[in-house]
Amino acid sequence: MDNVTGNRVLIFDTTLRDGEQAPGCSMALNEKLRVASALRDLKVDVIEAGFPAASPGDFDAVQTIAAEIRGPTICGLARCHAGDIERAWQAVRPAERPRIHVFIATSEIHRTYKLQMAKEEIIRRAVESVRLARSHCTDIEFSAEDASRTEPSFLAEVVSAVIEAGATTVNIPDTLGYTVPDEFSDLFQYLARHVKGIDKVVLSVHCHDDLGMAVANSLAAVRAGARQIECTINGIGERAGNCALEEVVMALRTRAGHFGVDCGVDSRRLYPTSRLVSSITGMHVPRNKAVVGENAFAHESGIHQDGMLKHASTYEIMRPEDVGISRSNLVLGKHSGRHAFRDRAQQLGFSLDEEELNRAFAEFKALADRKKELFDTDIEAIIMNTDAGASGPWTLEELHITAGTGKIAAGAVRLRHADGRVINEAAVGDGPIEASFKALERATGIAMELCNFEVRSVSMGEDAQGEVTVTVDYNGSSHRGHGISTDIVEAGAFAYLDVINRVCRQANATEQKQEAPAGVARA
Ligand code: KIV
Ligand code: ZN
Repeated sequence: MDNVTGNRVLIFDTTLRDGEQAPGCSMALNEKLRVASALRDLKVDVIEAGFPAASPGDFDAVQTIAAEIRGPTICGLARCHAGDIERAWQAVRPAERPRIHVFIATSEIHRTYKLQMAKEEIIRRAVESVRLARSHCTDIEFSAEDASRTEPSFLAEVVSAVIEAGATTVNIPDTLGYTVPDEFSDLFQYLARHVKGIDKVVLSVHCHDDLGMAVANSLAAVRAGARQIECTINGIGERAGNCALEEVVMALRTRAGHFGVDCGVDSRRLYPTSRLVSSITGMHVPRNKAVVGENAFAHESGIHQDGMLKHASTYEIMRPEDVGISRSNLVLGKHSGRHAFRDRAQQLGFSLDEEELNRAFAEFKALADRKKELFDTDIEAIIMNTDAGASGPWTLEELHITAGTGKIAAGAVRLRHADGRVINEAAVGDGPIEASFKALERATGIAMELCNFEVRSVSMGEDAQGEVTVTVDYNGSSHRGHGISTDIVEAGAFAYLDVINRVCRQANATEQKQEAPAGVARA
């Protein structure tokens, strides 16, 4: 049906916009930039970098990504308000390929209760907004929010009007994750029959996962003519999340004969990108998650193992290496050299510059002294962690803990600040974690409230590293930090200090902005 892209399905990644909207998934600017670089390497077609009018932080992130990431289209979201559209345009303008994405809700429920607008008013606002956006930029996407619960005839009217006004992509969201595959397919076929000019635009699909059907619904839409899929890494997003990019891409690839379409994603980057997003957001990927979960390629039962030894195709429909998971899980140890470490890192999908390699290799050697065997997951954790904690200003030099049954725990820390100060502090607590956290707060003068503490084993064995993720409230906003170590109390201290460092860096950046003369910070 769609003549614009032929058999090519465009992958529109909204991890940095819809994904970031999920509770606990907000990311700092440098983290968004790392995710955007990973998405470029994954070769997605469009990166929705944020909602520029939502906050100055969102605006900065979209503008920075637009200025720095070359290759994919960079898109900014806007409501059908002139102010939002101007902000979105200013933010995406530096991109090689900018796109403005405007949206308005069309369903009766949203018209009545949320917008209090009549149908005519919705069409007028949509058309005016698309025209305004089009006066700035040639690539305009329009979304009819809650499209799947909109009367099909009204939806067709809205879509026809925005195409006439200059929209180049029209997105049909299942905002509430309410539809089912055959119903959604019927809706796309209905639009194909009733919308004038539909063959001149890219028809897009955007599904949420409230009933666990986001991927299935997106694929049904592709069968019915959609040629852009909106999705997020690991399926993160509002409520139950969005269509998972890795799942929908591997479904298109593994069942290419059925779908008959291509997409440009480099599937070998799926696993490293999934790990990166999970480590930055602190949203762990369940072990049994399709495509990128730890067990996705593990064969436990004897019958399956026997089949696998005879021929992998007996129990495998995809090869782990096709999604960037190494089959060998080679074990490195303390005699492994820099070369072997770099090779392994490369095979795991990390391209490290000299400085990053030096830092990660030093960590690897330190860990190899404490731990007999290092698995791929250890290497991944080292690389992610050295990257994340690279920017200080505080470094933990020493941590001493005394704790025991029926005893008050005591923690002492020695911290070094980037400006040269060295602080020693001690505190007591109900247990070793509380004692060490209080000592860190005293030493840095930053008091926070711990909301969540999670620990998981990075690899196998008694000497496995523990990865701690803490969620902390500071001055009314929520922050997350990570730490890894073979000692989980130390991992906890690293995670808490990670948050303290983020808070310090944020305060520093705000001070610098305030000191800068008006207009210098960012246009
Ligand atoms: O779910 C939704 O409807 C959206 C739109 C803004 C595209 O995220
Ligand atoms: Zn959405």
